[in-house]
Amino acid sequence: MARQRSKKHIPERMEICHERWFDAPMLNKGNWRQACGFPEECEIYLEIGCGKGKFCTETATANPNVLYIALERDSSVILSAIEKAHALEIPNLFFINADAQLLENLFDDGEVDRIYINFCDPWTRRRKPKRRLTYKDFLNKYEMLLKPAGQIRFKTDNDELFDFSLEEFSECGWDLSEQTRDLHNSEWDGANVRTEFEQKFADQGITIKRVVAASPRK
Ligand SMILES: C[S@@+](CC[C@H](N)C(=O)[O-])C[C@H]1O[C@@H](n2cnc3c(N)ncnc32)[C@H](O)[C@@H]1O
Repeated sequence: MARQRSKKHIPERMEICHERWFDAPMLNKGNWRQACGFPEECEIYLEIGCGKGKFCTETATANPNVLYIALERDSSVILSAIEKAHALEIPNLFFINADAQLLENLFDDGEVDRIYINFCDPWTRRRKPKRRLTYKDFLNKYEMLLKPAGQIRFKTDNDELFDFSLEEFSECGWDLSEQTRDLHNSEWDGANVRTEFEQKFADQGITIKRVVAASPRK
């Protein structure tokens, strides 16, 4: 029942929050800072697959000088995130309702300073590694839109996806650091912001895997 309710009136509810997202986000390619009213020197952090927006709303609030853009392909899910940001009046957080496949149409070469990928679908059961957001084709897209040596901060609950991702990063020449298979009991937990899925997995006793990967582009 709750799921049905959340899908009701999506266009009308999106319209109420119209200043948080863009009808034609591709027109902002190369121009995101200006389109969102931010200075040219400000950093852009992009979250891919933001879900219901706990992570991006909390991190944007904590870093008001950074421009946050959260991308999510599911319109009913992103609506929850947009409504959250709207209700909290977070000025530095904007949304794109699109698939990550389209990233090169959305951002210019080197336009993004950092990417977050949190608990993306592991695609283990149906064995479709090409759909994983850390598959090499996606890494090549990220390398293009990130500034030189820009970072991807990646978290997952899934061991198979984590092993796969470490291999993909390494094969594509990314520099790995801050790697752990138990983030919540690591030195990096203090600065960690938990996502919705992360909290759910932690409550089930599943350890969280995390790595920071720096782009090979110098
Ligand atoms: C398992 S959920 C995790 C949500 C959130 N990051 C969290 O940790 O709570 C994965 C999210 O990524 C989104 N997603 C998966 N593939 C995507 C893609 N190719 N482009 C954009 N979003 C995607 C899904 O719609 C879903 O909301």
